[in-house]
Amino acid sequence: MTQRGVHFPERFSWGTSTSGYQTEGGGSNTDWWRYERAEGTHCAEVSGDACDSWNRYEQDLDLIVGLGLNSYRLSVEWARIEPQRGEFDSNALAHYQEMLEACHARDIVAVVTLHHFTLPLWVADLGGFECPEIATLMGIYARVVGDALGDLIGIACTVNEPNIVALMGYLMGLFPPAQSDWKRFSKVNVALRACHVAMRDALRSTPGEYPIGITLSMHEYEALPGGEELVESIRNETEDEYLRAVGDDDFVGVQCYTKLVFGPDGLVAHPEGELTEMGYLFWPQSVEFTIRRTASMVDIPIIMTENGIGTDDDEQRIRYLSQALDGLSNVIADGIDVRGYFQWSLLDNFEWTFGYRPKFGIVAVDRTTFERTPKPSAHWYAEATRTFTTPR
Ligand code: BGC
Repeated sequence: MTQRGVHFPERFSWGTSTSGYQTEGGGSNTDWWRYERAEGTHCAEVSGDACDSWNRYEQDLDLIVGLGLNSYRLSVEWARIEPQRGEFDSNALAHYQEMLEACHARDIVAVVTLHHFTLPLWVADLGGFECPEIATLMGIYARVVGDALGDLIGIACTVNEPNIVALMGYLMGLFPPAQSDWKRFSKVNVALRACHVAMRDALRSTPGEYPIGITLSMHEYEALPGGEELVESIRNETEDEYLRAVGDDDFVGVQCYTKLVFGPDGLVAHPEGELTEMGYLFWPQSVEFTIRRTASMVDIPIIMTENGIGTDDDEQRIRYLSQALDGLSNVIADGIDVRGYFQWSLLDNFEWTFGYRPKFGIVAVDRTTFERTPKPSAHWYAEATRTFTTPR
């Protein structure tokens, strides 16, 4: 299937998502590692060895094969590839090359994200996303990744949820660099869009003809009386400005988990209804909603690059996924061009400030032995992808 000279996988992508920092372990050269240990940190615990996927990635890939999924979304770590400015680590690149080759050997489409929340320390020390050179730096990094790995990439995502990086890091003060300032937040959103373009263009100039896009965190929104204006301004800044900017991309990655409710005083922390472990509203309907909204604003293919639920109750996860896939089925039946669905997440992994408490995985990971054990939801999801009627 060809779209503007790039090759989308022939088959609908059924997969799961993870990220490097949340699963590899040992991400010590990053801003997050430092933030986990900083005074006043919002992190419940440190990431440490995460799921030890740096060493156990073959087990992870075998789990995916065992479930009959055909795609895997992972991320490569800038801090490992360019540990110091201008110094590229050939061992790290070789490691990722082996990992992507291991995907190919198993007939798994490798969906590679280049930036998933973490920055190398040297970039953070230059000012991170407020550094005037940031787009250039990310473009250089992307070129190195494209040159080394381009032939093995199935689909590339430049920046994961830039809107969350900006929101949590510069407005909510919860992710590094833990700031809270609307002007800085707004400027960082602009900078992140420039980073995406620099990375996309760098990847396009290197080997491989795979689709390239950005992934966005999207929500369904509800405004209680008096909350309407707030919803409009937040949604405009965090979603619409990005959707207006992705027209030249090959696809857009949509990621959703819930519905946000705003009242006149801001976000309602505990809205009425069934809540998940993260305190989110149980809202699988957000899949259908966010895909429809995206399709109404952009004219490029959509991939649902993340969707899932943090819960200890695997029955609740199955109920969530089941309703989410019903929504997916509805939009595909209506002819919306959706090319893939990636459940978040393959493994119970490091959930940023929340640490290891929330369980997003369809596979449990023993925190001492790192033994992986598929949950009933893993088998349920595998079976659902086989019996899903529309996209074949
Ligand atoms: C992020 C993941 C995170 C997930 C669940 C997304 O915002 O991309 O890294 O683990 O949501 O909170």
